Amino acid sequence: MSLDTRAVHAGRDDLAALGVHVPPIDLSTTNPLPSVDEGGAAYELLATGGTCPDGTTAVYQRLWNPTVARFERALAELEGTAAAVAFASGMAALTAAVLAATRDGRRHVVAVRPLYGGTDHVLAGGLLGTTVTWARPDEVAGAVRPDTALVVVETPANPTLDLVDLAVLARAAGDVPLLVDNTVATPVLQQPARFGAALVLHSATKSIGGHGDVLAGVIACDTDWAARLRQVRAVTGAVLHPLGGYLLHRGLQTLPLRVRAQQAGADKIAAWLAEQPGVDRVHHPGLTDGTGLVGRQMSGTGSLLAFEVSGGFAAAAAVAGACRLITHAVSLGGVDTLIQHPASLTHRPVSADAKPVPGLLRLSVGLEDPDDLIADLAAALAAAG
Ligand SMILES: Cc1ncc(COP(=O)(O)O)c(C=O)c1O
Repeated sequence: MSLDTRAVHAGRDDLAALGVHVPPIDLSTTNPLPSVDEGGAAYELLATGGTCPDGTTAVYQRLWNPTVARFERALAELEGTAAAVAFASGMAALTAAVLAATRDGRRHVVAVRPLYGGTDHVLAGGLLGTTVTWARPDEVAGAVRPDTALVVVETPANPTLDLVDLAVLARAAGDVPLLVDNTVATPVLQQPARFGAALVLHSATKSIGGHGDVLAGVIACDTDWAARLRQVRAVTGAVLHPLGGYLLHRGLQTLPLRVRAQQAGADKIAAWLAEQPGVDRVHHPGLTDGTGLVGRQMSGTGSLLAFEVSGGFAAAAAVAGACRLITHAVSLGGVDTLIQHPASLTHRPVSADAKPVPGLLRLSVGLEDPDDLIADLAAALAAAG
């Protein structure tokens, strides 16, 4: 069945037997135990990364929650993986992936910039006990060492929308697991596991939730990785609240429609921006892709774009401040359009040599009529001179 059909029905196979049409939100933090022995066995299983498919011996919400598990099943189905594990945020998901990957003395990470500023910050600062080698995609094979635990990449990358060939990168990584941040593309446009990614990460806060009201992360992967990630989640406690799990599961049903409609708006706005005298450069996979990856690796261009205004930081700050319909705020992928200055905000912690240029603004295009968004941008560009 097509992705659109699966997005509507995935993770809902147990509902008819429950006699309900929409997933129930199970808020229990603890669950009645049939006996000490059965409770103890269930605890042992879940605390070491096992699953509780029928929800009967969930024990405790930090170990298992059926509402979150339904969202995980649905996301895994859309990414084409055997499993998925949800977390309290995208950064909690990244942290769990690094902790799960760094074992047996392997504490080295190879990472391709640009990455979301928070990811860059965690890796550059060694906050999780890792060291990092920054590499261009063609340098990854040479950067991998015997103690390398993970290769990390984002494509399209936030905020410059650079594209990386994942099949080539997976070959370069060899035996080292490849983590791909798929937040910007979403599973609608790209399924990195098909190209060799072991771990497919989303800030589900973005397009998957889609309405700016859930903070969450999720990793799609095979069952072995899922067990390791659940074990980390159980002991570190970075769990997703069931209400968030419910909203994300609902969000998946309209994800294909939202992504395609937002993408149509982004394509139109990117083309318009490219013609504006006050704009030096536009970054959008539809415009800047010389790699042939749109169509081959990604089935579309996505809803995110960035543009460099003439006049550097002052002009960029003036444009962001002059938008009226478009909200000046971080985050992306939601139904309403947001603009922000990455060097000051989302990518503020990134070192000077890798920071986005001062004139760059990032635009996450929502579901408004693109002509209304263009009118707002035209007025903001004019106001900024
Ligand atoms: C590409 C990308 N990855 C990861 C994250 C981190 O996700 P969260 O804010 O949900 O922790 C973000 C947040 O902006 C992001 O844009």
